[in-house]
Amino acid sequence: MMKESETQTKIVGGNGFGEEDFQKVAQIVAANKGKAGGIIRILQQAQGLFGYLPVPIIEKISQLTKVAKSEIYGIISFYSFFTMVPKGKYVIQVCMGTSCYVKGGKKILDALKRDWGLETDGITEDGRFSLDTVRCLGCCGLSPVIAVSGEVHRKVKPGQMGDILNSYS
Ligand code: FES
Repeated sequence: MMKESETQTKIVGGNGFGEEDFQKVAQIVAANKGKAGGIIRILQQAQGLFGYLPVPIIEKISQLTKVAKSEIYGIISFYSFFTMVPKGKYVIQVCMGTSCYVKGGKKILDALKRDWGLETDGITEDGRFSLDTVRCLGCCGLSPVIAVSGEVHRKVKPGQMGDILNSYS
């Protein structure tokens, strides 16, 4: 079992996968051999292990399962819960739906970039936060809206981002 600090290092670095990692992937593949929906389970478990699905791991899964890489990439892009980019301990979702955009969603993104060095699909150096944009979080009447690891914050002003994010340690 990988320690959390080791996982974070790999997530932040985004590369450096070695034999030990490939052996863990081989164990996941072996454990799911012949099971219905095996490739999806394998991808879920690999993502659970690494935090995301890096290219070297996808290639290893393809090699071991004999499922074409193109098919695996198709599955990853079809299911929104799969990601090929590293995610932080906390995932910030900034709503860029029409209502939130008009009421300041872009200014929130600008503040995250300016004050936290966060770009869309990016991750902070310490692995604490990553940033996604979404189309609508379902509370347009209280826009602009963000969510931090599923916890929704409404009527957010860019100047509040520091207080909001610092409440997640
Ligand atoms: S547009 Fe942002 S919550 Fe709907």
